[in-house]
Amino acid sequence: MSDRYAVFGNPITHSQSPLIHHAFAQQTGQDITYDAIEAPLGGFEAAVRRFIDAGGKGLNVTVPFKTNAHDMADECREAAAICGASNCLKLVDGRLIAANFDGIGLARDISVNLGVSLKGARILIAGAGGATRGAVGPLLAAGAEVVIANRTVSKAEDIAALFATPRLKGMSYNTIDGPFDILLNSTSASLTGTGLPIPARAFRNAALAYDLAYGKGKTPFLQLAEQSGTALIADGVGMLVEQAAEAFDWWRGVRPKTQPVIDTLRTPLD
Ligand code: ATR
Repeated sequence: MSDRYAVFGNPITHSQSPLIHHAFAQQTGQDITYDAIEAPLGGFEAAVRRFIDAGGKGLNVTVPFKTNAHDMADECREAAAICGASNCLKLVDGRLIAANFDGIGLARDISVNLGVSLKGARILIAGAGGATRGAVGPLLAAGAEVVIANRTVSKAEDIAALFATPRLKGMSYNTIDGPFDILLNSTSASLTGTGLPIPARAFRNAALAYDLAYGKGKTPFLQLAEQSGTALIADGVGMLVEQAAEAFDWWRGVRPKTQPVIDTLRTPLD
């Protein structure tokens, strides 16, 4: 019988994870099934227990259950422990282990797929929610200097305090000084087509502006970047596929090629 995996979320119908993992399985010859499961709000843990009792070996977790996934795990790998959120669980000898591959997926997409170096790069991250918590660790580990700007300043400062390094600062949008090499939009503003109060000068001569959202076309953040002299703009499709590849490798011990899957999923930024 095939080993069972799934992604859990609510809602889940638009998830690309089944398509991505089926492509990885086909490419690497792994015999797995991968479903999308909508757990009821307040019913995540029970749904996961049922899945595991029925033979599930691992799962991805998306909105709004990433904190629940972290909380129900028997053990958390470093990134999941720091952010208090997990996007991936694996059953090992009957114990549930939590990981968070969002940040490493982002860092790999920027440095490997887009060819923009993180070492010594000055990075601005707009937003201080769960996505930023996940992103910061791998960016710092790759040698970047990171400024988090957020509407609610205390949330940016809290993340900075968590990592406690002079290479990470939290601030408000109106104290951003720039210039930056890389600007990341990790807010949910792109989902509603809303712009952010980042000054145009922050984008001047930047190597990359990257919106963690995907499939939203040229968001106001990316439009501003393009108009303000940023060399390259990208959305988060590569991050999505790279975090999935990390999960697949962790579960199956085989690293799939990501570029063909990124090419399949990429939508034009116009
Ligand atoms: P996620 O887990 O996806 O990161 P989240 O925790 O809800 O989502 O965080 C959303 C982020 O988008 C927050 O940083 C939020 O700013 P606040 O902390 O001040 O609420 C930011 N955000 C959402 N809409 C925004 C907008 N219109 N302008 C600026 N920031 C916005």
